[in-house]
Formats: sequence, structure tokens, C-alpha cells
Amino acid sequence: METQMSDLVQFTRDNDIAVITINNPPVNALSPGVPQGIEEAIERVNNDPSIRAAVLIGGGKTFIAGADINMFVQMTSGKGGRIRLLPTLLKIEDCKKPIVVAIHGNALGGGLEVAQACHYRLAAPDARVGQPEVTLGIIPGAGGTQRLPRLIGVEKAMELCTVGKPIKASEALQCGLLDKLIEGDLLAGAVAFAREVAGKPVRKTRELNDKLGTPEQNGPLFAAARDAARKKYRNMICQLAAIDAIEAATKLPFEKGCEEEARIFDTCLWSDQSKAQIHAFFAEREVAKIPDIPKDTPAIPVNSLAIVGAGTMGGGIAMVFANAGIPVILKDADQAALDRGRATIQKNYATSVKRGRFTQEFVDERMKLIKPTLTYSDFANADMVIEAVFETMPVKKEVFAELDRVCKRGAILASNTSTLNIDEIAASTSRAEFVIGTHFFSPANVMRLLELVRGRRSSKEVIATCMQLAKKVGKVAVLVGNCRGFVGNRMFLPYIREAQFLVEEGAAPEAVDSALTDWGMAMGPLAVGDLGGLDVAYRIRKEYRHLEKPGARQPYVEDHLVEMGRLGQKTGSGWYKYDADRRASSDPEVAALVRKWNAEKGIPQRQISAEEIVDREIYVLVNEGARILEDGYALRAGDIDTIYLNGYGFPSYRGGPMWYADTVGLKKVYDRVCEFHQKHGQHWEPAPLLKRLAETGGKFADFQRGPATATA
Ligand code: CAA
Repeated sequence: METQMSDLVQFTRDNDIAVITINNPPVNALSPGVPQGIEEAIERVNNDPSIRAAVLIGGGKTFIAGADINMFVQMTSGKGGRIRLLPTLLKIEDCKKPIVVAIHGNALGGGLEVAQACHYRLAAPDARVGQPEVTLGIIPGAGGTQRLPRLIGVEKAMELCTVGKPIKASEALQCGLLDKLIEGDLLAGAVAFAREVAGKPVRKTRELNDKLGTPEQNGPLFAAARDAARKKYRNMICQLAAIDAIEAATKLPFEKGCEEEARIFDTCLWSDQSKAQIHAFFAEREVAKIPDIPKDTPAIPVNSLAIVGAGTMGGGIAMVFANAGIPVILKDADQAALDRGRATIQKNYATSVKRGRFTQEFVDERMKLIKPTLTYSDFANADMVIEAVFETMPVKKEVFAELDRVCKRGAILASNTSTLNIDEIAASTSRAEFVIGTHFFSPANVMRLLELVRGRRSSKEVIATCMQLAKKVGKVAVLVGNCRGFVGNRMFLPYIREAQFLVEEGAAPEAVDSALTDWGMAMGPLAVGDLGGLDVAYRIRKEYRHLEKPGARQPYVEDHLVEMGRLGQKTGSGWYKYDADRRASSDPEVAALVRKWNAEKGIPQRQISAEEIVDREIYVLVNEGARILEDGYALRAGDIDTIYLNGYGFPSYRGGPMWYADTVGLKKVYDRVCEFHQKHGQHWEPAPLLKRLAETGGKFADFQRGPATATA
């Protein structure tokens, strides 16, 4: 017998056990109507004497993935009311008959909070549970900071609520968050379990106080957690807020603790940090939507892959696909290079095992999937090939001409180029529609970002396939147009150039880097140069110098450093000097050299404030971003933000360069850019789009250009 409560929550029965199913695809978020539906179902369980217990379960591919994040956006933009989940959770907890929650897929945020209010928690072995609210700049807001420490203790609760990373069901079972894992049919197992506990008195989580600890035990835990949060999540407020709310659980009765949680939640939700992180969440999902490529575009099956080039990038890319279970042929031209590549892969995997990320068995399986080779002989069977050879056009063209000869028709031919023209590469084949750029970021097995470069003739099927494949292997793919440096590096080049100008005008390299890391960047621009090798940008500068406008100011310090053999970390010195463990320290030699060179060139020296450093660095990104956006090399401002958040260490709580500029106000940004233009020359010429939006009170976020990504 099935009774429909609403479209969102269904009420069915298995004899004496009620089954309450949440049905709000795609992720069963707690949108309006869902909490009400749950409340009505609980009321029926209470009032129907023939029902002895109930199972609460999610329909579709997951349990509840949290509150509906759209509601938060509506609230803070004044378009919606408050979401109230606490009363619903109290109704579940106060139900007179046992409520057994059965979790599959994910129980996240408000979803896990619903589970905490149930009397028993069961899960499928591959389920994941977590409080990821901090990734949105908020804290659990439906009693999670109050119930969680009562279930798993203060320390573990702080870990879940500050790190925000979901844990596996096995770990949740171990720490007491789950009561049992159900192998096989989850619903049948949960119904049987509910029948076992039916008639037993219910245990209310909010009344369990024995895991809350004493002030003596908790004091050092809170102090250590705050210290760690300040270091790890520099400038961020939500992790500290989550700790405050959990501390309230240990000091206040449950109801008062919930009031405190609500107060803290509100402070976070209305902060600029949370608005930026919520923007980042939606922007990351928006990138998958490509206006001229419908969702149902047929994808090409990719069950095998070949990679040309076993260097750092090729090896990292091989790991990405092997980790997802896709067999990889890894080719290099000589045995020594191949051996080196394999050894690096092995070393990287060994580190992952040491850190507990992978088991040895998993790694052994992955290594078996990577087959080294010196020839193209097996390439004919590969569904996709990624070229990751040296970054110069003649070499790339040669490889693609060869791939055109050896690969089957229909195979995708991708280049991991970071700057070169994908159409020119495609022209060396007879099948440009199968050619695309897949620009991975180093280390490829770690960095989430993938820029997919659309050539003039890349087919929609090829693009759709690569977007889907990227998701499968855990990457965030952003489709970009084919221009020099694409989106990320095209913006990054002026950013590192400006950092050099600042040094030339009198700022110490450490002052430039620390102004930006204090502001929130993961690393300073000069330290990033040292990490990747100063010779990389040097080569690019030399290759494209002829394209610079005549008379344009050119930086010189890095060129001098490279010519002295100071290439960065790999040579033990660059902007900084490095010890054997690659720990950086200031190098007085660089300071002296820069002083001397600046004097020789007659560049006036002055004190430069951290504020000016940040404005020049971030606005130079924004100004270039505006050109990219207007020219259509990125589809949306949010795409540029997603690139910078996932590939360039831009702080999540600032939402990406374009979002940040919108929050500062484009008029203010434009005025500052004009000021720099006047003082520092033509490379600061304001982007026309920035000017227009500043003059009309517009925002990058609202700018719509056209349906397709531009190509060169
Ligand atoms: N609210 C609204 N929409 C959501 C959502 C949520 N909580 N979670 C996911 N969605 C939407 C996505 O925007 C996406 O929409 P489109 O298809 O229109 O782009 C769709 O659901 C599918 O999402 P994904 O593409 O991310 O799907 P996935 O299968 O790769 O991942 C997931 C699924 C792991 C659940 C992932 O979506 C996720 O992590 N969601 C967010 C979970 C979260 O942060 N929950 C906490 C919310 S805050 C809260 O709950 C506060 C509280 O205390 C009450």
C-alpha cells in the first residue's frame, strides 16, 4: 500500500514498518516542502497504532545532500524567508516510535543533521557522511554542532565540522556516528532492523551527554583546534565559528546551544566570505553547462587512453586516469625517460600510501593499469590520446602528425599544451574535429583544474566527452577559447609581470609575496615562479616578445636571474634560496643584485604599501579577465573564477578575481586601474568591458556575451 504525502516525501508501508522516502531529485536537498513532508509522515507514524517503527530513506541516487543552498542565496539577497529545520528535527527525535535512517550515497550538511536526530543510523558500505558547510563559508545550522559532539565526542565533531570533508561509512561506524552498515538491499535491511528495535524505548541524541567531556578535558582541545584552524584556514571565519558553536554544546543546555548555533550561523551566512564560497559552489557546477552543447550530446566511450610523454605532466595525467580505473599506455622516446617517469609515479603513489590516501593494494592495481612503451604500436586501440611532450609547436605538430597516422578514426586527440594554438596543432592532422586541448595543472594528479581548449573545429561530441570524462576522473573542467595562454595563464602572465615591476620599483620580493599570501593567495607570485621554474615564463616571454606593443615596459629581473642560472627550486636558488628540503629563505644576494640593477637602470625607488601590491596584482588579473570575458574566451565570469579558485590558489572566501571585483564595486576597481594606467603606462589600459560596466553600475556576474566559446 502506498500513500503519497507530497511529491517530495512519500509514505509507504512494509506491514508494521513505515517507509518515509525523500524524493527531491537530483540530491534530495531539504527544499521547501521536504521538511513539512517529513513532519507529516512522523505525525502519521505517531498516530497510527498499527505502525511500530519507521525507516527514513532517500529516493534516487543519494540520501539528503543538505539544505537547499539556493535558499541561502535567496535569503541573503532579500528574496526569501528563513529555512527552519530545527523544529522538524525535534519532531523526528520526539517521535514515540523508533525512526531508523538508512543512508546511501551522501548524507551531507542538513542531511546528516536529519540523520543525527533519528534514533538509529544505518548506511550502505559505500555511503559517505559529512558536515561540509565550511566549504560554503557557514556552519551546520540544524543542530549539527550540538548533536554531533553528543554522538562522537568533541574532538571528532570539530574535525568533521572544520575540515568539511565527508568521511566513509566505515569510519563513521568506527567513531559511533553510524550504528550498522547494511550489505546488500539497504531498504530491506533497514526494515528488518526497524522491526528488531520496534517497541524499544527511543534514545534521543540531544539527551546524550556522556561524550561531551569536562571543561578540563575540552579546554586544551578547543585551544589546539583554534590554533590549527587559524594556521590552516588563514583569514577564514567559519572554521572558528564552528568551533565556537561546538564549545557552546559543551557549556549550554541543548536548546540554548541551538540558539547560539543559529546566531553564529547567521553571522557566517551574511558574511562576504560565505557569499563568495556559495558563488564558487554554483560557479563550479555552472561550468558544465555549455550553451551550444546540449546535455544529451552523445559522448564517445573512452575505455582506454594513451599518453605521449612520460615527464612530470604525462606521469601525473597517467595517474589521474589509472586512479579512475582506466588503462593507460604511457609512451616516451627513450628508455631512460620512461624509467624516470615510472619511478616518479611510484614515488608519488608511495607518498599517497604513507599519507593514508590510498592502500598498497589500490596502488598495486593502479600501477598494473599503466603500461610503459617506447613505440606507437598499441596506440591504434586507444579511445583517446593525450600528448604531453615539450611545449614547442614543431614538436607538438610532429607528434600529432604521427598520431593521425597511428590512431583509429574516432579517437580523441588531445594536447596538454598550456599556451600554444590548438588550431595550429590540429592542422597537422586530417581530423581537426577530434582535436582538443586538455590543459592539466601541475601536479596533474593533485590539482583539480582542467582547462579544455576548444579549437575552431573541435566537435561537440568531443567536447561533451571530455567534460564528462573530467568529472569521472575528479577534475573540474572549464571550457575555454583558443587564445594565447588560454584563460588561466593569459591572466597569470601580467600578474607575474606586475610582481616584477613592483620589485623593480623598490618592493622586496618577500614583501610582494607576503602581501598576497596575507590577502589569501596560497603562494606569492614570485615563490610560484620559483616552484615551477623561472625558465618556463622566460621561454614564453622570449617566444612572444615580438607581439608586445612597441615601447611597452618590459620586466627584466627574472630574465637576469634565469641568465645567471637561478631557475628556482630546481637549481636551489631563484627569487629565494632553497635548502636540500626545498625550504625557502630570503636571499640577500638577490636583494643586492636588484638594488644594483635598479640603480643602473635609474628606476626610482620608493616604499610600496601592501595595499598597493595587492591592488596592482589582483586588478591586473581582473583587467585581463575582463578582456577575456568580453572576447568570449571564457563563457562566464564564474568560469574565470572557477579556474582561479581551482588552479591558481585564489582564496575560496574571495570567490575568484571577477567575483571579488564585483564585491569591491567595478567603479572603484576601474578608478584604481585608471590611476595605475596614468602612473605605470600602457599595460594598465582599462579593459573596455570594465570601463563600460563601471560606468553603467554593472557587474561581471551579470555579463552575458554569447552562446559559444570564442576561438582565435
Ligand atoms: N542544494 C541545492 N542544490 C544542490 C545541492 C544543495 N545542497 N547539492 C547539489 N545541488 C545541485 C547542484 O547545484 C547541481 O545542480 P545542476 O545540475 O543544476 O547544476 C545538482 O544538484 C547536482 O550536483 P552535482 O553536480 O554536484 O552532483 P554530484 O553527483 O557530482 O555531487 C553532491 C553530489 C556530493 C551531493 C554534491 O552536489 C555536493 O557536495 N552538494 C553540496 C552538499 C553540501 O554542501 N551540503 C550542505 C548544505 S548547507 C546545509 O545543509 C546547512 C545546514 O546545516 C542546514
